[in-house]
Amino acid sequence: MKAVVVYDTAFGNTEKIALAIGKALEERAAVNVVKAGNAQPEDLTTADLLIVGSPTQKFRPLPSVTALLQKIAPNALKNVRVAAFDTRISPEEVARVVILAFFVKLFGYAAEFIGKQLTKKGAELLTSPQGFYVQGTQGPLLEGELERAAAWAKQIAEGLE
Ligand SMILES: Cc1cc2nc3c(=O)[nH]c(=O)nc-3n(C[C@H](O)[C@H](O)[C@H](O)COP(=O)(O)O)c2cc1C
Repeated sequence: MKAVVVYDTAFGNTEKIALAIGKALEERAAVNVVKAGNAQPEDLTTADLLIVGSPTQKFRPLPSVTALLQKIAPNALKNVRVAAFDTRISPEEVARVVILAFFVKLFGYAAEFIGKQLTKKGAELLTSPQGFYVQGTQGPLLEGELERAAAWAKQIAEGLE
């Protein structure tokens, strides 16, 4: 099985999650973990399993991730099983800032947006889009998030066997 993990990062947290996901998949797949800016649409469309992640900035993925997904031809992900993740501020932080909680409810997170972009290209989402939490706005990751990401990835890979 060929697995591709595509991500971008502003402060390094999403990269750490992407690498943890890649490592967790290694037992079951040939894995390529690649930054969105260094990936071509063909890298994504030829994968058996594709996992795409981004930091949530202003409720959306980074433009590099969105741009790459937009370049994929219609239906080109028909035979690719996919999952989406993001990193985001913690629920405690969101709850502390009332106006933020309001906008989060309205506009959501990057992972959902990525999931929608992927299904628009014909992909089948294997699991609900997943968020991993950082401290404050720039991280580091909350304790246990790398392990949670690895467990999430293992569960996805096991489901494919
Ligand atoms: C300009 C900016 C906008 C952000 N907007 C959001 C947001 O809308 N929702 C959210 O949960 N976190 C938001 N964050 C926090 C980011 O999600 C956080 O910086 C990111 O998870 C860190 O990942 P990275 O180190 O890979 O960049 C924002 C951060 C920045 C710098």
